[in-house]
Amino acid sequence: MLTTPASPVVTYDKELRTLVADLTETMHDAPGAGLAAPQIGVSLRVFVWNVDDEVGHLINPSLDLSEELQEGDEGCLSFPGMLYETPRAFRAVAKGFNMHGEPIIVEGTELLARCLQHENDHLDGILFIDRLLKSDRKRAMKEIRNSEWFGVATESGAEPIIKVSPHAMNGLGL
Ligand code: NI
Repeated sequence: MLTTPASPVVTYDKELRTLVADLTETMHDAPGAGLAAPQIGVSLRVFVWNVDDEVGHLINPSLDLSEELQEGDEGCLSFPGMLYETPRAFRAVAKGFNMHGEPIIVEGTELLARCLQHENDHLDGILFIDRLLKSDRKRAMKEIRNSEWFGVATESGAEPIIKVSPHAMNGLGL
């Protein structure tokens, strides 16, 4: 599911509000700075974030990105313990809807912009390792193959891998 594009939300109902609540709770428990629905086994275009003490959610988002880039390490709750320099746009403007179907716009720079891009990528089936420089990507693929959790998801029937990293990720798990 992590490499498959998610479907747009068409009904803003109680189920959707429960999904947003589940995502938010799972993100806080991890803890992480963001989480997308495909990471908990739901293939819908929904994600949540918790950046600079601001918690939010976005449904059916589309992103406008600055040409200016930022540097920084990035991790993902679906790849516990991995942290790699990941090039991202410095600024992102995300347009979408809240759980009540009302249009909202979220603007962010630095970590919030990074988070919006990372989570939006999850909805398109794109992983942060796909965004790495070639040499880092090679190292990352090797780290994944050598990890204790590699293959666990497929062997156990596609259970999502969400667990707390043994190493502090400084809130960078997304
Ligand atoms: Ni992630």
